[in-house]
Amino acid sequence: MGERSCLAIVLAAGEGTRMRSQRPKVLHQVAGRTLLAHVLAAVRQTGGSSCAVVVGPGADAVAAEAQRALPGAEIFVQAERRGTADAVLAAKSAIARKPDDVLVIFGDTPLIRPLTLARMRDALAEGAAIAVLGFRPKDPSGYGRLVLEGGELVAIREELDASAAERAIGLCNGGLMAFAGDTALAVLERIGSNNRKGEFYLTDAIAIARALKLKAVAIETEEDDVRGINTKGQLAETEAALQQRLRLAAMDAGVTLIAPETVFLSADTKFGRDVVVEPFVVFGAGVTIEDNAVIRSFSHLDHAHVGKGALVGPYARLRPGAWLEENVHIGNFVEIKEAVIEAGAKANHLAYIGDARLGAGANFGAGAIVCNYDGVAKHRTDIGKGAFIGSNAALVAPVTVGDGAYVATGSVITQDVPADALAIGRSRQVVKENQAARLRAMKLGARKKAAD
Ligand code: UD1
Ligand code: CA
Repeated sequence: MGERSCLAIVLAAGEGTRMRSQRPKVLHQVAGRTLLAHVLAAVRQTGGSSCAVVVGPGADAVAAEAQRALPGAEIFVQAERRGTADAVLAAKSAIARKPDDVLVIFGDTPLIRPLTLARMRDALAEGAAIAVLGFRPKDPSGYGRLVLEGGELVAIREELDASAAERAIGLCNGGLMAFAGDTALAVLERIGSNNRKGEFYLTDAIAIARALKLKAVAIETEEDDVRGINTKGQLAETEAALQQRLRLAAMDAGVTLIAPETVFLSADTKFGRDVVVEPFVVFGAGVTIEDNAVIRSFSHLDHAHVGKGALVGPYARLRPGAWLEENVHIGNFVEIKEAVIEAGAKANHLAYIGDARLGAGANFGAGAIVCNYDGVAKHRTDIGKGAFIGSNAALVAPVTVGDGAYVATGSVITQDVPADALAIGRSRQVVKENQAARLRAMKLGARKKAAD
């Protein structure tokens, strides 16, 4: 059997009123990625697929995110929010191309797995005209109920329109449906809006298929797959479920998570072999950790790279563009942004390195910082291999410190330091013998006078 072609239609025209947010619902994030991008990632992993994303009028940000997450996704606008079937028909011209399989996926169900999409398509390959994804939620209220007769699905009843007997059904509509491409339009175009809400319900497709003597089936899956997000509470529940999945996947791949429940990952976090992550670490998006690195407690990483054998934290902050090569040590309260830290370099305590290069084997002392921002523009600092930056030095960018150079503790460096030179930029110390006792006596005298 050749590979079947597939059109995935992602519905993202909802207003998401219950999120109480200015941001369109599908642009909220879980595990560092928008809901829409999660769904599109699952679609991308589905073979032979083209993708149509249905957005509301003026939803430019949603369209842009769709095209960023899945270049080549076709955007269709649903002019008026008249129900899920109407939304699907916004992509009518794509359905009319008659792909073998048409998948309809809601943009607000980010945990859908490619495996589940494949099971839906298998049902079509085996002769069903429609396959519906069902699940058994703890609380079925609000969901459409799947009405089965024998092995066949005969109807989906929306809760508002359901009889008491139908409401007692535990198997619910997860929202995801697959249609055989050759009959999809014939079914979809017959859907009307004769129901309590006056909307065009996609779920009516089942009864129509039955009238046309087409076979519909239900495929059961676990709740996580179809977890829909309507509220901020559900967003948090979904985040928790996804974090659980990501932690298990990381451990399956060999990462040691000492207290997995305290580590937060992003969908795109990448780990090498034998990485250890201590408790309470947050990985924002775009982080790569190579073999044998150790990320110690309370560190926060975001769009950063940690090379082989590097040691990060505790309490380290790697901001976007932090690029640590092999065996680098970044210690407590050190912040790195947009900087390459070359192999074996160290910044172990209380430092800021931004818009910079720290050469291989260089040492960046406690409390030292680069002053990269003058209030208007950012400037670069370049520190050579094996250089030593003394504690509490301030390197005023743009500035270069050559290979092997030595910057004395407490210096304010405003001029380039040549290789192997020693730079001292601080005022000289003055020592006055016995002045401490005299000074104290003077101050005590003044206080007594004021009290009299
Ligand atoms: C829908 C199903 C219900 C199922 C539930 C699962 C229908 C009629 N009902 O109900 O059986 O149990 O999902 O979560 O399909 N959308 C548009 N345009 C519209 C209307 C909706 O794009 O005009 C999009 C929404 O953005 C959302 C999706 O379609 O992504 C589902 O719409 P929603 O209103 O949330 O449907 P439910 O009432 O949850
Ligand atoms: Ca919903």
